[in-house]
Amino acid sequence: MRILFYTGKGGVGKTSVASATALQCARLGYKTIVLSTDAAHSLGDSLGVELLAEPIQVLPNLWAQEINALHELEANWGDVQRYVSDLLAWQGVESIAQGELSIVPGTEELFSLLQIKRHHDEGFFDIIVVDAAPTGETLRLLSLPEVTRWWIGRIMPFARGALKVLRPVAKRFTDMPIAADEVLNSAEQAVDALTEVRGLLTNQEICSARIVINLERMVIREAQRSLTYLSLFGYAVDAVIVNRILPADVDGHFAQWRTMQQEYGQQIHQTFAPLPILRVPHFPREVVGTSLLERMGQLLFESRDPSEFFYRGPMQRVERTEEGFDLIVPLPFASEDDIHLAQKADELMVSVGWHRHRIVLPQSLARLRADDAYFDSDELHIVFTQPADTKGTNKR
Ligand SMILES: Nc1ncnc2c1ncn2[C@@H]1O[C@H](COP(=O)(O)OP(=O)(O)OP(=O)(O)O)[C@@H](O)[C@H]1O
Ligand SMILES: [Mg+2]
Repeated sequence: MRILFYTGKGGVGKTSVASATALQCARLGYKTIVLSTDAAHSLGDSLGVELLAEPIQVLPNLWAQEINALHELEANWGDVQRYVSDLLAWQGVESIAQGELSIVPGTEELFSLLQIKRHHDEGFFDIIVVDAAPTGETLRLLSLPEVTRWWIGRIMPFARGALKVLRPVAKRFTDMPIAADEVLNSAEQAVDALTEVRGLLTNQEICSARIVINLERMVIREAQRSLTYLSLFGYAVDAVIVNRILPADVDGHFAQWRTMQQEYGQQIHQTFAPLPILRVPHFPREVVGTSLLERMGQLLFESRDPSEFFYRGPMQRVERTEEGFDLIVPLPFASEDDIHLAQKADELMVSVGWHRHRIVLPQSLARLRADDAYFDSDELHIVFTQPADTKGTNKR
């Protein structure tokens, strides 16, 4: 079983590329499902088929599903949400706000991801292609199970054991709503299920994340940011897909666009190394319907199997050290001589000889200072420490 998880900035072509991938997989004989977890679905429009919240078969070997986020939320989190609403009401929060506040932003999509676990557990499909919501949202969601556990610890005022003893007593001394057993149960079940989904998505033998980009500055920057966060949270990225590459014969102001694309096109190898770059041209029209998507899939993968691992190897990661953290970046083509670091807010420019590598830092490192770097078996270790003036204080 393989899970192919497509992410990227809004509008870059995630849905199209995910559909194209699924069609290609189906054509190769894999039982494939493409599902969209983005609450604003466009998967059906892309395939030119009316989709439902349950999988429907679109072509031989190909199924598609537009997950109903609200339904998933209610089914998995409804009890908890109602309890939190009561708790907020007890604390004097006005009723309209309760509904809004009782949901951690992004929770809806989070529960949509449970459908991935369902298909995995049922074992009917060989390949699950996920068309995820735009980057920022998804990444936050993916890191959530730990956060949710922590959050549940805060909103459920007593642990289960204590609750049995304390509930009758607590009832006499306070009118604060106390979570019922069912609420605790359903919270625990939900978090367990999410932890399993996370386990699937971080299982490097099963899941590959692929970042879709266009050759534009802001899109590339956001992709770098997601690469950092995906790596940080343990998700394996195996390719970057460049969509909408303009053909050589454009003129007028599209010729300028093309020149710009060529410039970015040359930089992205270094930017995303060691990941392979797959390319899709700009089509002369919207890529809608199975025949155009099939064409897109052929151009994208050529003769390759989309379920291959396009890259397997070490990714950027962060390790705790005595003084702070090491950011470890695989740079197999760089050498020991003359490493130079320049840090500005959340960006770090690493120059090693002629090679320049720009890294977007996760928030936790952007607060620290990069003050040393060394190579250890083809990996660059960048040493981050607390700046002296903030040591031992809680300034930030
Ligand atoms: N290579 C391409 N050539 C021409 N049109 C394209 C190409 N890729 C995507 N499109 C068109 O661009 C539009 C947006 O694509 P798509 O819906 O796949 O993007 P998305 O990243 O999923 O967007 P969202 O973030 O809104 O979900 C669609 O109309 C699609 O047909
Ligand atoms: Mg989309």
